[in-house]
Amino acid sequence: MCGIVGYIGKRKAYPILIKGLHRLEYRGYDSAGVALINSQGQLNIYKAKGKVAELEAFAADKDTDGCIGIAHTRWATHGEPNQVNAHPHYSESEELAIIHNGIIENYDVLKQGLMQHGYTFRSDTDTEVLVQLIEYTKRSTHLNLRDAVQQALNQVVGAYAIAVLDKNNPDAIVAARKGSPLVIGIGDGEFFLASDATPIVEYTDRVVYIGDEEVVWLQRDCDPEIVTLSNVQKTPEIKRLELTLSQLEKCGYPHFMLKEIYEQPRTLTDSMRGRVNVDLSNIALSGFIDNRERFLSAKRIIITACGTSWHAGLIAMYAMEEFARVPVEVEYSSEFRYRKPVINKDDVVIAISQSGETADTLAAIQLAKSKGAFIFSICNVVGASIPRVSDSGCYTHVGPEIGVASTKAFTAQVVALTMLALCIGREKGTMSREQYLHIVRELGQIPDKIERVLGQNKRIADFAKTFTYAQNFIYLGRGYNFPVAMEGALKLKEISYIHAEGYPAAEMKHGPIALISQEMPVVVVAPRCGTYDKIVSNIQEIKARKGRVIAVVTEGDTQVTAMADYAITIPETEECLTPLLSVIPLQLLAYHIAVVKGCDVDQPRNLAKSVTVE
Ligand code: G6P
Repeated sequence: MCGIVGYIGKRKAYPILIKGLHRLEYRGYDSAGVALINSQGQLNIYKAKGKVAELEAFAADKDTDGCIGIAHTRWATHGEPNQVNAHPHYSESEELAIIHNGIIENYDVLKQGLMQHGYTFRSDTDTEVLVQLIEYTKRSTHLNLRDAVQQALNQVVGAYAIAVLDKNNPDAIVAARKGSPLVIGIGDGEFFLASDATPIVEYTDRVVYIGDEEVVWLQRDCDPEIVTLSNVQKTPEIKRLELTLSQLEKCGYPHFMLKEIYEQPRTLTDSMRGRVNVDLSNIALSGFIDNRERFLSAKRIIITACGTSWHAGLIAMYAMEEFARVPVEVEYSSEFRYRKPVINKDDVVIAISQSGETADTLAAIQLAKSKGAFIFSICNVVGASIPRVSDSGCYTHVGPEIGVASTKAFTAQVVALTMLALCIGREKGTMSREQYLHIVRELGQIPDKIERVLGQNKRIADFAKTFTYAQNFIYLGRGYNFPVAMEGALKLKEISYIHAEGYPAAEMKHGPIALISQEMPVVVVAPRCGTYDKIVSNIQEIKARKGRVIAVVTEGDTQVTAMADYAITIPETEECLTPLLSVIPLQLLAYHIAVVKGCDVDQPRNLAKSVTVE
């Protein structure tokens, strides 16, 4: 949800900022802009509608001189995506420039007050209100920029990560955050700032994660200074980055999404490393071991998440209820936080988030925490807001996921949640040692089995071409594979713009069956386990109405294969682990349909990877 980047040092800022914006483009890409103070002390702002490449074209013949600057790539909230609403925004006097990721909720009240003081507004954004407020505060109180920012932010309700330039002080940038991420890179006589570490990694591995309600002052040739909104000085805590540059490249793949699909055998091995022991006889999750009693005494587990992460949560509900015999509720964070839920002190709340920054999930955690529940989070981005406010957790360690449609993060979330379910079940004694050992051994085989599914990529690419005509798709699954059906449908919607619905197969006869005709492709996830016979009947019902069936079946299956128009096989495994295999063909199917349709696979329209607004 918008990416921000900044630089102050001895190098030319513009190339660093543009490269940083490309890295952050996954956060939003409807317009982009840059502000630079050149060597004559002029503050220049260049903005363009569209992607960062449009900004580069626009700025090609402009003065991009300067060793200090800030830049922004936008996902519109207030005001349509156009050049005027793009960031950075000038203040009234054009002496200050701001970039902002987040939402200012009381912007209207602030705007009315500023208008009474003669301020005029050029854009429809909430952000412009913020820069005007900072200028007004600075002028009316005669404070320096840092203190004016601090004082102005005390009047603001909402979420933000901001960076501000002052043309009268070309030696400093002030930045602050509340609710939106902000990381500072510390180089040799230079500073970087960004929404995440990806624009920073090639210059330095020393970073400081800025906390909520902290204002940071980056002054040339000085140490960074941090002060909270309530005026407490903080010592910057420098951390080492684990990110590497090659993780941010496509490495020969045409899209990040395809690269990330193919990475899954390795990323799942990484997720299990050090947790599943080498002889596949035990799982040791430190977040569980350290809080064993909380998990064992939990009367209920509440899982909260959004999007793809919510689908991983649904799969976990099946596993936790089966193995740990504890009631599990799975909640959309956005609904949970607003519906006055009953939360008890002995509840365990599990938050799932790839980015660790999703605003609704963060707010859901804060609500549950205020009621005394124990918060365990499953996140991918190390140091993000959600793991930092949680009591404990487990990182998925899949490396940066750059394609906006989540793939490798999803499978790693399912693995982490399955490991947790097995740990609780084993310790509680609600599953036998034999069953536990069998599943742990099967889990260890999953990366190799995913390789076998990936081996069918070419076939999937070939038959995907047949379905680009479709306006609608139905995805069906049962049990552990019902959430997979929803995830497959979501993947297709996100990147190919084809309407798709994921449904429990047995529910089809209560509505969706009315949609079935020879025009309607129906993807059925039908591995040979659990309710296989029932799903065979469901497929017969589809074929009787001339629907076109794409089936995901277990290797060696003949029954469903004979009925399906196209069948993709997955190796045999334990039922609870089938989602880790059955989702792979659905990821590939969505990918290839989107490619044939000419869609922007990695940056689909209107979406963003990290949703830091409610
Ligand atoms: C956005 C992304 C999805 C993601 C969801 C939740 O909608 O496009 O891919 O599943 O946010 O994000 P999180 O980072 O909390 O998993």
